[in-house]
Amino acid sequence: MAEQIEREQWGSKIGLILAVAGNAVGLGNFLRFPVQAAQNGGGAFMIPYFIFFLLLGIPLMWIEWGIGRNGGKYNHGSAPGMFNVLWKNNLAKYFGTLGLFISLVIMIYYTYIESWTLGYSFFSITKMYFNEQNFSAMRTFLYSYQGRAIGGHFTNIWPSYIFMLITFGINFWILYKGITKGIERLAKIGMPLLFLFGIILTIRVLTLGTPNPAIPQNSIENGLAFIWNPDFSSLGNPKVWLAAAGQIFFTLSVGMGTIQAYASYIKANDDIALSGLSTSATNEFVEVIMGGSIAIPAAVAFFGIAMTTQIANAGAFDLGFVSMPLIFHQIPYGPFFGFIWFLLLFFAGITSSVAMGQPLISFLEEEFKMTRKKATTILAIVVIISVQFVIFFLRYGFLDEMDYWAGTFGLVLFALIETILFMWVFGADKAWDEMNRGGEIKIPRIFLFVMKFVTPVILATILLWWLVKDAIPIFMLKGVPAENVPYIWGARILMLVLLGSLIWLVKAAWKRRLGN
Ligand code: ALA
Repeated sequence: MAEQIEREQWGSKIGLILAVAGNAVGLGNFLRFPVQAAQNGGGAFMIPYFIFFLLLGIPLMWIEWGIGRNGGKYNHGSAPGMFNVLWKNNLAKYFGTLGLFISLVIMIYYTYIESWTLGYSFFSITKMYFNEQNFSAMRTFLYSYQGRAIGGHFTNIWPSYIFMLITFGINFWILYKGITKGIERLAKIGMPLLFLFGIILTIRVLTLGTPNPAIPQNSIENGLAFIWNPDFSSLGNPKVWLAAAGQIFFTLSVGMGTIQAYASYIKANDDIALSGLSTSATNEFVEVIMGGSIAIPAAVAFFGIAMTTQIANAGAFDLGFVSMPLIFHQIPYGPFFGFIWFLLLFFAGITSSVAMGQPLISFLEEEFKMTRKKATTILAIVVIISVQFVIFFLRYGFLDEMDYWAGTFGLVLFALIETILFMWVFGADKAWDEMNRGGEIKIPRIFLFVMKFVTPVILATILLWWLVKDAIPIFMLKGVPAENVPYIWGARILMLVLLGSLIWLVKAAWKRRLGN
């Protein structure tokens, strides 16, 4: 084992669990999940969803905790070093670059979305959107805030820009404070508040009954039925299965490089088997119970099924930022409920976004021996420069393009690579021992088979299916409006520049190490 440098460790078990649960629980649980479920067969969606939770989500969680804790033993908190420990080959570290790239790219746009939630919690308590009386007005309010529409409440992007700066400032401050004093402390405050707000909102929505007795079909019962009634015919559609897999990845934060980074700060013999399972279970509870009970049932109760379908199809943001505010108009103490809804989203978001900054910080600290301050400053500069494009070119699909390559495709690719490296190159028996060492539970043996064969085969099939069906049209921008094309290419170039720079940094880090 390499000589141990002074590396931080999580201060407490509960702090660790809350931090990793916070890493997983995010905007995806409250905004993305309900839309995915409603669009892909309602209750039937839960069948592929739970199958993939068992065959991809949980196994990848254990794999990532295992890779992370193992890397931590050798003073590596980011994927290039971790992969290099698993596979003594020059190429390993370059595969690991993907772990830095994905977390960095997602952090750039995700934190910007998170800043809208902070803005909207302020607009709720100050009743700023309470004059917007219908969907079109509320949507214009949102679009004017995002700088996507001329006219509307906001005449320029600056309010949005200020909340962006505040949100990034808080993120970088927490990252600068470090693992225990920053991330762990945030999780210990943010996660209990998130649960509290989630429970209050779930109870509030479930007791809405039939808000307008003249339209009895617009009820909470029908809202729950809308999201949970199984449409089994959808199970024959591969798109539904892909959507379920995509949701499992995004919601659990697997395939991003962030779980590994957190796990690297655990002591070499501390439990990961039970911790990995409990953080996954916490995420699922928040997603399925709370995420499934708030936005969509409330929309059906107030606006009916036809309208809710339209909202869900219009995108994840309309549900959270258009229909929820309209509902807050209409219920007693609306400003308060609006405030806690958006603050809940903010806490969900920030406990995930700090995790996305950690891999690059660990990398700079450990592979370049930088101080935390310097590493955080470099991350901040890169992110703040990059997010300018996301902000100003939002309406041209810049954010969606980054989300597609890093937040959808990238996760599956990275997960396949790490699974092969851990279970096949490092070796299934060693990997199994690593995941079980110090465990407070024994991982059921069937998962050895799942991790070795089933998980990689499913991942490879998803990628192959993508290659055959989607790769060419997506790459060639089929169906993309002509005016968006230059911006989409711009997003691709930005991502290539980031990836190229990271590869160069990884190369430089190893050269530096050999020189020492
Ligand atoms: N897992 C995080 C989320 O669900 C990224 O938003």
